[in-house]
Amino acid sequence: MVPIPLASEPLRIGLLGCGQIAQAHAAALRFLADDGVARVSAVADPDPEGIRRVAGIVGDLERSYSDGRELIDDPTVDAVAVVAPTRFHRDLIAAVASAGKPLFTEKPLAPDFSTVCEIADTVRAAGIPAQVGFQSRFHPIVRQLQDWVVEGELGAPMAYTIRDDQFWPTGAVVPGHSSWRAERSQAGGGALLEHSIHSCDIACWLFGPVARVFASTRHVFGFDVEDVAAITIEHHSGVVGNLVTVFNGVRDREERRIEVFFERAAVEATTDFIIGAPEDSLLLKQDGAPAERFDVDALRRATFAADGFDPNREVFVYQYFGYAAFASALRRGLDPVPGIADAVRAHEVVEAAYQSARTKGAANVADLRSR
Ligand SMILES: NC(=O)c1ccc[n+]([C@@H]2O[C@H](COP(=O)([O-])OP(=O)(O)OC[C@H]3O[C@@H](n4cnc5c(N)ncnc54)[C@H](O)[C@@H]3O)[C@@H](O)[C@H]2O)c1
Repeated sequence: MVPIPLASEPLRIGLLGCGQIAQAHAAALRFLADDGVARVSAVADPDPEGIRRVAGIVGDLERSYSDGRELIDDPTVDAVAVVAPTRFHRDLIAAVASAGKPLFTEKPLAPDFSTVCEIADTVRAAGIPAQVGFQSRFHPIVRQLQDWVVEGELGAPMAYTIRDDQFWPTGAVVPGHSSWRAERSQAGGGALLEHSIHSCDIACWLFGPVARVFASTRHVFGFDVEDVAAITIEHHSGVVGNLVTVFNGVRDREERRIEVFFERAAVEATTDFIIGAPEDSLLLKQDGAPAERFDVDALRRATFAADGFDPNREVFVYQYFGYAAFASALRRGLDPVPGIADAVRAHEVVEAAYQSARTKGAANVADLRSR
């Protein structure tokens, strides 16, 4: 890919959508503005209250629009971040693609798999650089797991378990939240699609593309989308794993647990969704050695330093690493990672799981592509 000639340093981002997660994007970009890497130059949202909240985080907001298309056409916006509800992503991404601007888009790409494929085709045809908001990949603990897989010193990965859980993230349960997440027509799915697509991405990143899944889902709280999904996942690499995800009724609880079994080591990792969370932990038990419990603060500082940032920086959002990687890729003319192809792979796991839950049989990922 040809390097994008950026009109300015730092990279000027237009935030399309100023809801809940846009506040994390704005905070990440506020920190990166201080670093001279990237900043919010404009925002768009039909809701003035959302704009007011994001402006309060950004600090020196130059422009705001009620219509996202005006933001996309704004010549002072170098790259567009799509942070609107999932059902609007297709049209907004198509508009960014026809403007020929670099794209940072939230996950999931779309509520249904055929629209996911359509979006991927649109982005590929336009040839725009595109990154997807799988910020969990940038967690120092997850990066350490990936290093172990790539280095190979622990032997080959054999099997894994992942458990995700989160308090029901919908307005019907949490005052002040938007309610679209509880509607299948708008969100496309629940705990698996909306939340654990992050874990599907992590599993594909660590263990390679998925061949086959078998899944069960439940609707315990009576919403239109699942609050429980349990999946067995078979990767082409031979690695097998389980993913259990729950939208729960336990306020203030939000955790990801990953256990990986290598040929000569067992790893237990726990993370949350902010940097430096009290839940974070990492334990490595190697054959013939005592279990090693890592100093996760030291690991976090080392990760900041490795990326060229101040290790003592009190950044609490992983979108910081995501946007830093995005800006760096654009400057160097590289494809941003995780990109649209990574998102399609994660969506394939989700789609195959939903199909399996419906049919009560295993679902092959290859069959999704041939439909
Ligand atoms: N990466 C993550 O961990 C993560 C976390 C939460 C949400 N998300 C994803 O981010 C997206 C947004 O989620 P949210 O929780 O912020 O939703 P939200 O409902 O809190 O906010 C969405 C905002 O977008 C605005 N909006 C609607 N149409 C718009 C348009 N055409 N142009 C501009 N703004 C528009 C709404 O007015 C609202 O303020 C969803 O796709 C969601 O799945 C990702």
